[in-house]
Amino acid sequence: MAGLVRLRPSDHQFHVDGNDSILDAALQAGLPLNYGCSNGNCGLCQARLLSGEVSKISHHDFVFSEAEKNRGHILLCSYTAVGDVVIEAQAGAVISEQHITTRVKKLTALTGDIVLLHLQTPRTQRLRFLAGQSVRLDLDGEASATHPIASCPCDDRNIQFHIRLIVDDAFSQRIASLKPANTVQVIGPFGDFTLNNRSDRSILFLAFDAGFAPVKSLIEHAMQLEQSDNLHLYWIADAEEGHYMHNVVRSWKDVFDNFSYTPLNAKDLYPLADPADGLQADAWQDVSQALFRQVSAEHKNLQDFDIYVAGPDPVARFIRDCLLRNSFPQEQIRTISTG
Ligand code: FES
Repeated sequence: MAGLVRLRPSDHQFHVDGNDSILDAALQAGLPLNYGCSNGNCGLCQARLLSGEVSKISHHDFVFSEAEKNRGHILLCSYTAVGDVVIEAQAGAVISEQHITTRVKKLTALTGDIVLLHLQTPRTQRLRFLAGQSVRLDLDGEASATHPIASCPCDDRNIQFHIRLIVDDAFSQRIASLKPANTVQVIGPFGDFTLNNRSDRSILFLAFDAGFAPVKSLIEHAMQLEQSDNLHLYWIADAEEGHYMHNVVRSWKDVFDNFSYTPLNAKDLYPLADPADGLQADAWQDVSQALFRQVSAEHKNLQDFDIYVAGPDPVARFIRDCLLRNSFPQEQIRTISTG
C-alpha cells in the first residue's frame, strides 16, 4: 500500500508508504497535524476523507457518530492510504511532548571534544519531531540538558546528537561515560528552528561549530522531501578539525543540485581569533561580523532568502541583530542557540 496524500485546505502533500499511518507520514514530512494519543483513543487526529481509499491499520476505541461516519471522518493515526487520497485536516500548532526511554546505540568522537550520541527508541514508541527541533536528555534524573537533534525525522527511531563535552560539567561527564544499551530519557520535542513550509524562498544556513547539528537535520529532511529550494550552507568552525562531517556535506553537494557549501574557519574570517582554547563570546562576535560582511557581499539579494542561524548564544543574537539593523524581515530569520 502506498499513496500520495493531499491535504485541504493547506494544499500540502506527502507520500505514505507501506503500513505507516497517515499521521506518521505527515509528521515525517514536517507537517504537525492535530493529534493527541496516537493510538485511537482521543479523537484529536480526526479528519475527513474527501476522495480516494484508506485502510484501517490499527484498532481504535474512539467512536464516531453516525453523522461523522456519513461525512467520511477517519482517524489519521489508525488509517493508511490505498493509492492517492485527498483529506481535509487542520494543521496543529505543535507536536505533543513525548517521554521516551531510549537506549544508547553508539557513542563516537567527532572531534577532541564533540561526540556523536546515537540513541534508539523502542520499535513501538518512535519520537515524533520536526527537523531542527530539540529535546531534553535526562540521565537517570542525575543530569539533564537540552540539545538539538542532528538527524532526520524520516528515521524517527534513530536519533542523533552532536554534544560538546565541557570540562567539569556533570552532564558532559555522564554523557562521556555512556555505554551501548544504557538508557537515556528523551523528553520533547521543543523549539521553532523548523522549515517554514509556507515559504518558497531560498535558504541560507549559517552554522557555527556544533550548531551544524540542527542544520544537518533540516538539510537532510529537505533533501528527503526533494524540496527544490536553493540551500546554501556556511559552516564556520573554530578549529582545524571543526568541520567534523565535511565528507557528509560534500556528499550532499554531489547528489543535490540545489545545494552549495562554504566551509570557513573562524581564523580566516577574523585573523585575531585565537581558537586555542575555544573562542570566547567577544571573539565570536568579531567572527560573526566578518561573516555577515562576507555573506552580504556574496548575496546582494539577501532579502530573497530565509536565514537560519545556529551557534553559540552570542553569535545567534549578534547575527539576528545585524540582520534586523539592515532591515531584513524578522519573519525570515530563525535562530537557535547551541550553547
Ligand atoms: S491521535 Fe488520538 S485518536 Fe488519533
